[in-house]
Amino acid sequence: MSLLDRVTLNKISIAESIVFFTGAGVSAESGIPTFRGKDGIWNKLKPEELANFDAFLKNPEMVWEWYKHRKKIVHESQSNSAHKAISDFQTLFSSVTVITQNIDNLHRRAGSRKVFELHGNIERNYCIKCKAPYNDEIILKASAPRCKCGGLIRPDVVWFGEYLPQDQFIGGENAARNCDVFFVVGTSGIVYPAASQIFVAKDSGAFIIEINLEESEISRIADKSYLGKAGEILPQIYEEIKMEKRKSGSVLNS
Ligand code: OAD
Ligand code: ZN
Repeated sequence: MSLLDRVTLNKISIAESIVFFTGAGVSAESGIPTFRGKDGIWNKLKPEELANFDAFLKNPEMVWEWYKHRKKIVHESQSNSAHKAISDFQTLFSSVTVITQNIDNLHRRAGSRKVFELHGNIERNYCIKCKAPYNDEIILKASAPRCKCGGLIRPDVVWFGEYLPQDQFIGGENAARNCDVFFVVGTSGIVYPAASQIFVAKDSGAFIIEINLEESEISRIADKSYLGKAGEILPQIYEEIKMEKRKSGSVLNS
């Protein structure tokens, strides 16, 4: 039985440009915990003590212990069938953009080529004084690693109260403004300014498709909501669109 109704099937099939806006839920099936909801990280830990610059200056060892733990989880995880399906859409559409709030790099590892990372990337680090970049091998030995210049090294992720990387934010916003179909996958949609891009897409006339385990803040503005696991729903949508495009002879290369 097909998952997509006629209208949705058509909307996606004729789209020229599609965007996937993703959150922690897309990586849940890779074993990376989400922040909110059942088993969410922020149910047990306080974000203001761990994902905050002042907390880092006060107690860099504690913040580093937490990020080393997260780096390890990410390092040992693999992309799942949701990331893979998103990457596979590149064989069906000439313009596929991923905007992610995740810092785990799993979209790129699954093969997505155009990815805007709104909250940074946990595989990178930099010195807070001179901004020199550092890779994990060098820094993971110390409990609170320091740069050659003496400055503290921090993970290259966005903490509460910090600006988002402007080039990533603007790139994402442009993609949101110019797409035909905008998928919102595995995000609670309540963290700003990231979530504003969903509304940019909506206001620009994109067809909004939500995929989430449960109803979210985004459900009321979505044109279509699919409730369930991203790793099951996205591959099914991909297959149905591929079939539809085959019928009309418009598959790029698969
Ligand atoms: P949340 O933890 O807030 O939301 C994850 C969403 O994914 C929830 O709505 C779940 O229902 C859904 N979900 C869980 N498993 C799923 C699955 N297998 N398939 C589909 N959906 C699933 O995560 P985000 O929305 O990403 O910010 O959180 C936004 C930001 O808040 C994060 O980027 C992080 C956090 O504090 C920073 O680190 C700056
Ligand atoms: Zn430095």
